Amino acid sequence: MSEHVKRYTPQERTNHWIIAISFILLAISGLALFHPAFFFLSSLLGGGTWSRILHPFLGVVMAVAFFFFAIGMWSQNRITAADREWRKRLGDVLCNKTQGLPEIGKYNIGQKYMFWTLVISIALLLVSGIAIWQPWFTPLFPIFLVRLAALLHAVAGFVAILAIIIHIYSAIWVKGSIRAMTRGTVTAAWARHHHPAWYKDVSKGNR
Ligand code: HEM
Repeated sequence: MSEHVKRYTPQERTNHWIIAISFILLAISGLALFHPAFFFLSSLLGGGTWSRILHPFLGVVMAVAFFFFAIGMWSQNRITAADREWRKRLGDVLCNKTQGLPEIGKYNIGQKYMFWTLVISIALLLVSGIAIWQPWFTPLFPIFLVRLAALLHAVAGFVAILAIIIHIYSAIWVKGSIRAMTRGTVTAAWARHHHPAWYKDVSKGNR
């Protein structure tokens, strides 16, 4: 049996899947509300009226869950000089020429960019979403801000959906990653290969 190392606690995994499920429901209902070409997607939540009612509440659930998830991994997502060096040698990374590469910690620079893209886009989605949440909050804002919020909401939604498509693709593409979020562990070989500095840390008993 191969050796395994812990990567995520049950709380982190539960939170991640609450975020993932609510995000998918939000993306589908959001697209249905965005353009008539996608209106058929509203069937998932029980039609146009239910999509319109549930979408903002799901947004709050996702934003709150994401807030706690992001706080927990905030410091591990700071971009370092080693990350920049690693990015410059991305060609070598893709060709598996790992000799002399700076050692990567818990997350690589691609994951870190994804993290910050999500932090910014989800914050924008929450703030702009509140401003366009009829009939509760919209009357509190001047109309030009409501219009700006509607535009911002669509742009931030587009960016977040794109980021998540890349995130899911990478999670499947990097063999052995999915189990980190399903079982909470990865193989020692995976950790040594993809995140050697993090592996050294966990081996010493740190997280
Ligand atoms: C079906 C959809 C999803 C799948 C299959 C998936 C899969 C994964 C996996 C396997 C990891 C662990 C990667 C690692 O530790 O190296 C992960 C981490 C993470 N996921 Fe997801 N995820 C999904 C949806 C989402 C959504 C919707 C969000 C946020 C809106 C999200 C945010 C994150 C973040 C911030 C991390 C930690 C940093 C990273 O690995 O990039 N995920 N996900």
